[in-house]
Amino acid sequence: MSEFQQKCTLLTRNRLAPDVFRLTFEAPKLAAQAQPGQFVMVRVIDGLDPLLRRPFSIHRNSVSNGTISLLFKVIGKGTDMLAQRCVGDQLDFVGPLGNGFDLSCKQPICLIGGGMGIAPLLFLAEQLQQTGREIEKDHVLLGARNRDELALLAEEFSALGYAVQLATDDGSIGHKGFIPDLLDFVLPTVERVYTCGPHLMMENIVRQCQQAEVSCQVSLETHMACGMGACLGCTVNGKKGLVHVCKQGPVFNADHLEWSL
Ligand SMILES: Cc1cc2nc3c(=O)[nH]c(=O)nc-3n(C[C@H](O)[C@H](O)[C@H](O)COP(=O)(O)OP(=O)(O)OC[C@H]3O[C@@H](n4cnc5c(N)ncnc54)[C@H](O)[C@@H]3O)c2cc1C
Ligand code: FES
Repeated sequence: MSEFQQKCTLLTRNRLAPDVFRLTFEAPKLAAQAQPGQFVMVRVIDGLDPLLRRPFSIHRNSVSNGTISLLFKVIGKGTDMLAQRCVGDQLDFVGPLGNGFDLSCKQPICLIGGGMGIAPLLFLAEQLQQTGREIEKDHVLLGARNRDELALLAEEFSALGYAVQLATDDGSIGHKGFIPDLLDFVLPTVERVYTCGPHLMMENIVRQCQQAEVSCQVSLETHMACGMGACLGCTVNGKKGLVHVCKQGPVFNADHLEWSL
């Protein structure tokens, strides 16, 4: 699979919560190649500050419309500038990058997203649904700070046919607490877990999966400078030594990584 550098036109800009945005871009070549779990490196502005591209998961993908969407939270300069881009602006993208999720599991599965880790899971959920699997046996667990960050996304997973359970820090929707609290009830019914979110959440999920002997794929979001295996900025400890999250990931079989469990 090859990646492209291309200018992509911003088609729609939606604010899902005060600091959470969904941007959809015209990107036919990217859309045609992208697999769930892959990411793009985006120049958020044409000038020199910030100089480095920022990595974002491909959140939605439409081959027929030739579009891809990003879902992101404003946490610093780059994401703030990205949030201020206007419909019609052209942004420089490189992608699709990295290795995505393995979709081959035919048995019931569980998708678990925390915060902006939900972003790649909607693309994954859409692709899995198109494989004709028994969606009603699959689960989606989503966690975030509050209702604003979850309500619309939860509806979108539900509309695909998944059983969705929610957890929020403030209890404004779903369970008041953390996603791993919900997982114990779901784990006995599934064969594989796919997860993306805060590292501590994923560590807990990996521990629960290992105890239950359920396979687990994790998508990591480390700091990245180049996104292409050239700078060593994104390395983590794998069972057989250091691995580049940008090249060998961002999706890994959890058993291939070292976890401080
Ligand atoms: C493969 C991949 C996919 C990603 N997908 C998404 C996505 O779909 N949606 C989304 O909102 N974000 C995603 N991220 C994270 C996103 O790239 C960062 O939020 C973004 O680069 C921050 O840029 P900034 O200039 O706004 O923040 P900066 O000014 O660079 O940093 C602001 C603060 O955030 C911290 N920070 C920056 N990047 C990260 C990070 N990766 N992990 C933890 N802390 C960080 C910095 O240490 C600093 O304290 C992804 C990251 C990776 C590696
Ligand atoms: S981000 Fe440069 S090597 Fe991975």
